[in-house]
Amino acid sequence: MASGLEDELKRAIRTIPDYPKPGILFRDITTLLGDARAFRRAVDALVQPWAGGKIDKVAGMEARGFILGGAVAHQLSAGFVPIRKKGKLPYKTVSMAYELEYGTDEMEIHVDAVKPGERVILVDDLIATGGTAEGAVKLLQQVGAVIEAACFIVDLPELGGADKLRAMNVAVRTLVA
Ligand code: PRP
Ligand code: ADE
Repeated sequence: MASGLEDELKRAIRTIPDYPKPGILFRDITTLLGDARAFRRAVDALVQPWAGGKIDKVAGMEARGFILGGAVAHQLSAGFVPIRKKGKLPYKTVSMAYELEYGTDEMEIHVDAVKPGERVILVDDLIATGGTAEGAVKLLQQVGAVIEAACFIVDLPELGGADKLRAMNVAVRTLVA
């Protein structure tokens, strides 16, 4: 990672205590998104291992994964696959219930979002317990994707999410811990 990048990104992210529930330290990336230089540097760092390589599609989880995943897909000239919360996708879907740091939810992907064997990277802003990313990996595998890596700006390592993905043989890239 470029020297100073982690510090710059950390400074650009604000922490809100007790949101959305008591005891949660919420990492708010809206401040990073609003900082043109930090946003650019974060996206550049996320795409760097795949620049010039062949990634067919970038998958992003609703909602924050859409912002970053769209930017990453554009930069890699790849397609974008939305993984959405239940009930939002209009065509046939595969769905998966999952747990995250502060609740439970259900997400879906279109059955034809990926062609079998397409190379996909998964992008989100943050990994905490890894419940969301684990569910997304399982959905992508069900529709035939080859998952090259899962990429996040923020890792909360004490919550074990990145290790959970590595145990599923998914390569993990994070920029800030
Ligand atoms: C947040 C974040 C990740 C997930 C990480 O999304 O953007 O997707 O939580 O938590 P986990 O590793 O414990 O699963 P959230 O579900 O809050 O949705 P949002 O992007 O719509 O705010
Ligand atoms: N998603 C899950 N845990 C989170 C946290 N602590 N901050 C921001 N988003 C999150």
